[in-house]
Amino acid sequence: MPTILVAGGAGYIGSHTIVELFAAGHDVICVDDFSNSSPESLASIQKIAGKSVTLYTQDVCNTAALNDIFSQHVIDGVIHFAGYKAVGESVELPLMYYRNNIDSTLSLCEACLNHHVTNIVFSSSATVYGTPHFLPLTEEHPLSATNPYGNCKLFIEHILKDLCVANPAMNIALLRYFNPVGAHDSALLGESPRGIPNNLMPYICQTASGLRECLNVFGDDYETVDGTGVRDYIHVVDLAKGHVAAINKLAENPGCVTYNLGTGNGTSVLQLLSAFIAENKVNVPYKVTSRRPGDVAECWAATDKAEKELGWKAELGIKEMVRSSWLAQCNSK
Ligand code: WQD
Repeated sequence: MPTILVAGGAGYIGSHTIVELFAAGHDVICVDDFSNSSPESLASIQKIAGKSVTLYTQDVCNTAALNDIFSQHVIDGVIHFAGYKAVGESVELPLMYYRNNIDSTLSLCEACLNHHVTNIVFSSSATVYGTPHFLPLTEEHPLSATNPYGNCKLFIEHILKDLCVANPAMNIALLRYFNPVGAHDSALLGESPRGIPNNLMPYICQTASGLRECLNVFGDDYETVDGTGVRDYIHVVDLAKGHVAAINKLAENPGCVTYNLGTGNGTSVLQLLSAFIAENKVNVPYKVTSRRPGDVAECWAATDKAEKELGWKAELGIKEMVRSSWLAQCNSK
């Protein structure tokens, strides 16, 4: 079966995607420098899938190293997860984000061109939609970014679109994630962010476990169902399956195509918190604080394009998301 190179495969979404690639019969090469992940996730993949990845511990920005890897294998496709992804950190360290996230993409694309690898799936984000002009967000919604992290995603989408124009043989899928949460049922592949979590679900988990004292709910005065921010949370296993569907369908959808990967459902902060507490029978102290700068009130996906063209639709609901997140938290060291 085709061999897929996964750049950043040891990360939260990358590791879940490798599990699903194995389940779909692919062989997998992983390139990761573990700057924001742990080698342990590869051992977990081995336990879950009963197969091991071919691992190269490398910075994806290292073009020479990538060319060397590509020359040793017949690679049928690439999935690109490698990049920094903390919105707040990107505001403080923009050059680090542009250097790393764009250089890694350029190196990967050069290696693909040098070795006639024509299939690329890119991990993009709904953040490229900026403040919604309408909902649900379709792939045709205007694009804008309000921070260097979002700019990186936007710039890389443009780079990949231009690559397809210059090289008609290229087939590229841009996958715009909404809010990935949850974990594989084994509880071996959690999110485990380093330092203080930026995102809601890991912060809820760490508060429930006593690692954090109290969850700050960033504002309850939005024009939403209960005043708190509404997002389209998608189970990471559904998201991973979306990548397998995309890489397998690339040849049928030539050129550069874009898909939302979401559920089409919006859930507020307080709704997610209530579901977490009810499902896991734990306590999560919280207090309402001021809004977080840059947050939008609500955001959820139009999902029919991915369903129609990829034959993919999210299947797991909020209950599975909050339960699996908590089990992975309890299982983490
Ligand atoms: C969700 C909601 C917050 C933390 C970002 C990126 C996106 C993707 C996912 C990488 C909002 C509220 C949060 C907290 C809170 N990034 N919140 N207290 O901002 O929708 O999306 O992360 O893959 O590209 O833009 O996700 O989880 O940070 O916030 O009240 O401690 O939870 O205000 O309404 P976000 P989030």
